[in-house]
Amino acid sequence: MSTIVSAKSVPALDMSAVTLTFPDGAGRVRALDDVSLAVAPGEIVAITGPSGSGKSSLLAVAGSLIRPDSGRVSVATRSGDTVELNGLSRGEAARARREHLGFVFQQSNLIASLTAVEQLEVTAHLGQRWWSGPSRRRDVRERSRLLLDQVGLADQSHKLPAQLSGGQRQRVNIARALMNTPSLLLVDEPTSALDSARGAAIVELLTAMTRTHGAACVLVTHDPTHLDRMDAVYEMVDGRLRSVTSDQDVEPGVGSSEAGPSSLNGVGLVSLRGTAMSSALTAMP
Ligand SMILES: Nc1ncnc2c1ncn2[C@@H]1O[C@H](COP(=O)(O)OP(=O)(O)OP(=O)(O)O)[C@@H](O)[C@H]1O
Ligand SMILES: [Mg+2]
Repeated sequence: MSTIVSAKSVPALDMSAVTLTFPDGAGRVRALDDVSLAVAPGEIVAITGPSGSGKSSLLAVAGSLIRPDSGRVSVATRSGDTVELNGLSRGEAARARREHLGFVFQQSNLIASLTAVEQLEVTAHLGQRWWSGPSRRRDVRERSRLLLDQVGLADQSHKLPAQLSGGQRQRVNIARALMNTPSLLLVDEPTSALDSARGAAIVELLTAMTRTHGAACVLVTHDPTHLDRMDAVYEMVDGRLRSVTSDQDVEPGVGSSEAGPSSLNGVGLVSLRGTAMSSALTAMP
């Protein structure tokens, strides 16, 4: 059953009329063309689409890694504030990423010389003052161990990346992305380096972690077998985003009032399962 997101619900990610172009010879290529997307806390949505259609560009803009040509992007923080990503300086954007966003990419990009638990600890200490005291260090270690336990790696926490399998490395990556309790998880093809069983397990884990931790999650995937686990599915074609769930273009104000996507704050579409929102609200760490 789908639940309508009330007008009061604040999306964790709110993108409105975003356009992004890159130089391309004499002209410019439109990587994102008037894209609007809203994702609620605890909701996981998939973005599919052909190579070069703009999926990674969407994540880069949502993650403040690239500033769009036009449009608005905002992220709701855990404390209830809204951060407008467009207007941030480079330093402010880096801080917003550290505090409010989690990234999981195809390659796990772990630091070769750190154990699994240290990968998470380093993330928590980034941007902190050098004298962060022993009690904070203890809290950080405790949270690192808890997260590794939640992704099924309690007994692997002492291992270096080279001693872990591809699936295990991706689990560390997911735990690390959750370390700073982000309100938004941005995930780009996390299963493409894995076999189908391990890939399915990773998507299952992402779905569970998204709901448990109340983060919104945008998952780019080529694999159609994962789509039935999603709260909503979108397809990107030539920089334009359309909802596969309703077979309608994702445009401001579009939406039905029952099952399927509905309009949210006048922009984007979202189809939210009731359980997602309730678990999100009860599980905010
Ligand atoms: N840094 C860049 N400079 C110039 N053009 C770029 C850049 N990044 C992406 N593009 C172009 O923008 C378009 C969208 O690229 P993007 O990487 O978002 O596609 P994608 O859907 O993620 O593809 P894939 O499935 O292959 O990862 C493509 O035409 C690509 O060539
Ligand atoms: Mg890509």
